[in-house]
Amino acid sequence: MVHLEVKRRMGEEDVAAISTLLHLAAVADDHRPLGEHQWLDLVQGGRRGFAGFVAWEPGHSHPVGYAQVSRGESNGTWAVEVVVDPHHRDATSTVGSDLLRAALDEVGRAGGGHVHLWVAKPTPHHDEMAAANGLSKGRDLYQMRRPLPVAGEAADLATRPFRPGQDEEAWLEVNNRAFAWHPEQGGWDLTTIQRREREPWFDPDGFLLHEEEGRLAGFCWTKVHSDLSPPIGEIYVIAVDPDFQGRGLGRRLVLAGLDWLARAGLDLAMLYVDASNEPAVALYRNLGFTVDHTDRAYVGDIPPRRPR
Ligand SMILES: CC(C)(COP(=O)(O)OP(=O)(O)OC[C@H]1O[C@@H](n2cnc3c(N)ncnc32)[C@H](O)[C@@H]1OP(=O)(O)O)[C@@H](O)C(=O)NCCC(=O)NCCS
Repeated sequence: MVHLEVKRRMGEEDVAAISTLLHLAAVADDHRPLGEHQWLDLVQGGRRGFAGFVAWEPGHSHPVGYAQVSRGESNGTWAVEVVVDPHHRDATSTVGSDLLRAALDEVGRAGGGHVHLWVAKPTPHHDEMAAANGLSKGRDLYQMRRPLPVAGEAADLATRPFRPGQDEEAWLEVNNRAFAWHPEQGGWDLTTIQRREREPWFDPDGFLLHEEEGRLAGFCWTKVHSDLSPPIGEIYVIAVDPDFQGRGLGRRLVLAGLDWLARAGLDLAMLYVDASNEPAVALYRNLGFTVDHTDRAYVGDIPPRRPR
């Protein structure tokens, strides 16, 4: 019998217990279970609509699963994530489906809307669980990787580091223009970037800006995952202002980011990209990246529900 506890705000003990569960799942799956936005919701306090569901089973002093619901800042899409302890995943366990049902009920009670359920390395079991709850296959996200350094191609683009407290406005303008269509990366505001600047991994020296004609033309923001073994360098966000696209800047910005990561001592680079983002996938393949695995968003529209 699974017991679900609902949390609107997380205390330190809750975060610690859930972090342990997330760590166990990350080791078992070789993949972090919560997306970055969701992790920030958990540790920094949720965005609007935040709810966490902690699953307990008799005889276990630790949570056996966790689900989280939060609402996107720019477009109101609900993000749902479900994590099950690796020892509670046998075919008879209902932890995952109970958590998913509770999370979707919560969305309904909060007025309903469009939902994304992100699953890392999806299996047919995930397809079935999503379908049983009225969700269908939506976006696929590739994680692409390549070894470092890049031989035979010079990183020759002039860049300078991001200056916290000064560059936010110009950066937001370019980011939001380039990602106007993107559900998570578009529509950022000052709060969104300042939350990233407070993260322990944030390093302005690895956040490279390129200026042309007296304005910001593009950027390559890197992130070092020093807690992974081996450590991995990520091309975290890269974009070229639409006015400057198609002139080879994107390629040179990625090369600048890869060069920075290689100089920081990393042997491996990775990035996430929407499978349908043809210009970006073509660019990365061209630069020697290959797909390591796929993450999938199951999508659906949840109707508003009256409280029981
Ligand atoms: C992806 C992006 C950074 C590319 O920047 P860019 O300066 O326009 O790209 P480049 O001129 O350097 O082109 C490099 C390669 O990208 C690919 N590419 C660029 N635009 C493309 C398009 N419209 N269709 C298909 N491939 C395209 C090609 O492989 C191209 O190589 P080629 O010139 O030999 O054909 C830019 O389109 C962008 O900012 N997009 C919005 C933000 C984004 O999607 N970022 C990536 C998220 S993971």
